[in-house]
Amino acid sequence: MDNNPYYGAERPARMTVSSAPGKVYLFGEHAVVYGEPAIPCAIERRATVGVEPREDGHVRVEANDLTLDGFAVEYRGSTSERPDVDVSSELVDAAMGYIDAAVTQARAAADAPKSGFDISIQSDIPLGAGLGSSAAVVVAIIDAATRALDSPIDKREVADRAYHAEFEVQEGQASRADTFCSTMGGAVRVEGEDCRTIETPRLPIVVGFDGGAGDTGALVSGVRSLKSEYGFAADTVESIGDIVRHGETLLADADPTGAPPTELLAELGELMNFNHGLLSALGVSSRSLDTMVWAAREAEAHGAKLTGAGGGGCIVALDPTPETRTALRFTPGCEDAFRAELSMEGVCVEEP
Ligand code: MEV
Repeated sequence: MDNNPYYGAERPARMTVSSAPGKVYLFGEHAVVYGEPAIPCAIERRATVGVEPREDGHVRVEANDLTLDGFAVEYRGSTSERPDVDVSSELVDAAMGYIDAAVTQARAAADAPKSGFDISIQSDIPLGAGLGSSAAVVVAIIDAATRALDSPIDKREVADRAYHAEFEVQEGQASRADTFCSTMGGAVRVEGEDCRTIETPRLPIVVGFDGGAGDTGALVSGVRSLKSEYGFAADTVESIGDIVRHGETLLADADPTGAPPTELLAELGELMNFNHGLLSALGVSSRSLDTMVWAAREAEAHGAKLTGAGGGGCIVALDPTPETRTALRFTPGCEDAFRAELSMEGVCVEEP
């Protein structure tokens, strides 16, 4: 793979490398936390993780491209100790929390509670931007670390352990959607514990990124409080579930081979617009996300919505033409816009 940092380069002798994709939500983020269905799709942006066991039980992490300046931290085996992070950044702290939780899961899976690791992370998924960076890193670490300890686990277990890692870091406010999607690849449908892969036609996905990030825990808590305070907020969450149920029937009836017909894109787009409106009503959009959504619609995208937790980060639009990407690139507040291919490959080992 192009983004394997060790491809054709020096790779430490015992290093195991795994990669996992990021994702966009076609429909259903936030509502999925409360048992409604959601449909995320894996995209061709990956986190690649190299893991090498260490004898001394310490964990050393090097991350060079998490859209942050590079950082390296080293800490001892006990997960109750704070790592000695010398870069002050909430995002680095958040990333370390996910890495720590993934290491705990890998140790438990391999029944090797004292094992140490050198971990290096390369990722072209921006942190906290709604593209599933933390899920991809957690999934890839669990896969690589269990293989490095000669205790590989199957994908269902990787997904399950990755979910528990996210659940712990997000203080019980996580669904299985991000981690299952990153593990399996392709499009998936998640409703509570029921996680399955589904077939979709090749959707013309365009992503706009405002350069920012949202705090998933705080955003999920905000929706939770609105939902418990107001019946109409609870109804809004249920309506998002209705949109997903409608969207999935459209996808199930579509021919998964070949380009999707315009009528299908128009109907999916309409549902995405509706979904964005309801997320906005739940308070998880932002000025820059709304601006990008409107730029995409004005460029005649079939539909556009924020993706992931919101608060800042990315939008997803459907447009088979280059118009939306071009419009987004000229939209104030949009830092990057790109076409995102569906990634059929979930977590996988990267051969040297
Ligand atoms: C975050 O990518 C998606 C949320 O639905 C949270 C979750 O499902 O864990 C907001």
